[in-house]
Order: sequence, then structure tokens, then C-alpha cells
Amino acid sequence: MVAEARRLRVDVLTLFPEVFGPFLGSSILGIAREKGILEVHCHDIRAWSRDKHRRVDDRPYGGGPGMVLRPEPVVEATEAVQAMEAEPGELILLTPQGERYTQAIARELAARKRLVMICGHYEGVDERVRLLLKPREISVGDYVLTGGEPAAVAIVDSVTRLLPGVLGDPESGAADSFQSGLLQGPQYTRPAEYRGLGVPEVLKGGDHQAVAAWRAAEARRRTAERRPDLGARTGGSPGDRATSGGEEGASPPETR
Ligand SMILES: C[S@@+](CC[C@H](N)C(=O)[O-])C[C@H]1O[C@@H](n2cnc3c(N)ncnc32)[C@H](O)[C@@H]1O
Repeated sequence: MVAEARRLRVDVLTLFPEVFGPFLGSSILGIAREKGILEVHCHDIRAWSRDKHRRVDDRPYGGGPGMVLRPEPVVEATEAVQAMEAEPGELILLTPQGERYTQAIARELAARKRLVMICGHYEGVDERVRLLLKPREISVGDYVLTGGEPAAVAIVDSVTRLLPGVLGDPESGAADSFQSGLLQGPQYTRPAEYRGLGVPEVLKGGDHQAVAAWRAAEARRRTAERRPDLGARTGGSPGDRATSGGEEGASPPETR
């Protein structure tokens, strides 16, 4: 059965709207936008600056290095952008201090009609942005980026893959790592032999059941080897989950 396509609108608030162009125009994101499934609007936070030089940052109270994004342009830009549509959308602040992004969160966000993302820069955003707007705070990992833009791209990309009608073959998304709570097993294509390395016989034999069993076993083996924590998160072994069809999204809250 072909799932019905629908539209996701994403608004990104950033100091660098120009960095999104190549990502949004290429590959899956470009196709999703052409099909009208994904609509992305990038807004320059500086347009809401009250400063004649369009400055949006200032020195931190209490001293210290770097600059902090002032609250007025960020809060007012966000309110104005949210008001552009009847649906205010899920508001996301990208920050290394947020909940860690996972495929389960990507699935949650893919069910929304609209996402509004705030990208910080410099030393981050004034705390009052968080207190006033009460965004969902998301981190793409335990490392620090210069700005929220690469994090926003990662989220838009991973969410878009999950939108019905985006991937030519919906099965390809279902087999991806994390979708079933496991890593995907090894993949092979032609040639049948390369530099002395062949392809497992089962993949060339045409027995679909045997191929499916091999892939499931390889996914369990690879997950146990590389990411035993994926099984631990649901209280079972990765092997249990492959056979029970368990989903990462059905797991208890993630430990951070
Ligand atoms: C240099 S960082 C600021 C880090 C901040 N001083 C701290 O230690 O928490 C500037 C901006 O990059 C973005 N950013 C950095 N690392 C991120 C991550 N792991 N996930 C999401 N956004 C991140 C955030 O928007 C942040 O406001």
C-alpha cells in the first residue's frame, strides 16, 4: 500500500540563511521540495535587529569570552515567523545542551505539519529566549558546533526521509539503521569479486527467504558488536528485538 504524501513546512531562523541553499537543493531534500512534500523557509534573524548596523549579539554579562545572541531579535523573529501560518508548529532550539537527537525523535517530528528551528551562534543565545519561548531543545550530539545550521540540516534531512512519498522505495527507509532498533547489516553490489573479496553466496542465490534471514542475522550480529546499547535501551538483546519487530520508537525514554 502506498502511503499518502503530505506536506511538511520547516522554518529556520539563522544568521546565515545562505548556507542552506546547496543542501536544500540536492538529493532527497531537493526531490522532496520538487514534489511539494517539503517546504523550507530560511529567515535571517538580523532582519529583526533594532540596531542600525543590524547587530544581534552583545558581550556576556559577567564578562568572559565571545558574544551572545541578544534576546529581542531572536524572540521577535520567532514570534513573527510562527505567526506567518495558522499552525505555529513545533518550536525547536538547537543547542548542545538539549535532548540527544535520535531516529525516534526524527519519526516524531516527521508526524508534525510544521517545524520552526532556531539556530544559535557565537557563545549561544541569551537564556531568556529559552525561558520565554519554551522551545523543545535538541542536540545532535555531544560535541560543539559553531552554529545550529549543520544541526538543522541534519534534522531536516533525517525527517524528510521519513515523509511518505519521498523515498522512491519505502522499503529502503524501513531497512535503515535504527528504524527497527538495529544497525543495518552489510550491503553489496556489483562486481561479484573485487580485489579478491567476494559477495556472500546467499545474496546471489535468489532465495528471498534465505536473504531475509541472512540480513536479519547480520543486523543482529553487527548491532551486538558495535552498538550493544541499542538492545540495552529496550531491556532486551538486539537479537530479541529483531525477531519481535521491536521499534526504537517504542522504547522507554532514552538515557542521556
Ligand atoms: C558554539 S555553540 C554555543 C555553545 C554554548 N556556549 C555551550 O557551551 O553550550 C553555538 C550554537 O551552535 C549550535 N550548536 C552547537 N553544538 C550543537 C549541538 N551539538 N547540537 C545542536 N546545536 C548545536 C547551538 O545553536 C549553539 O547556540
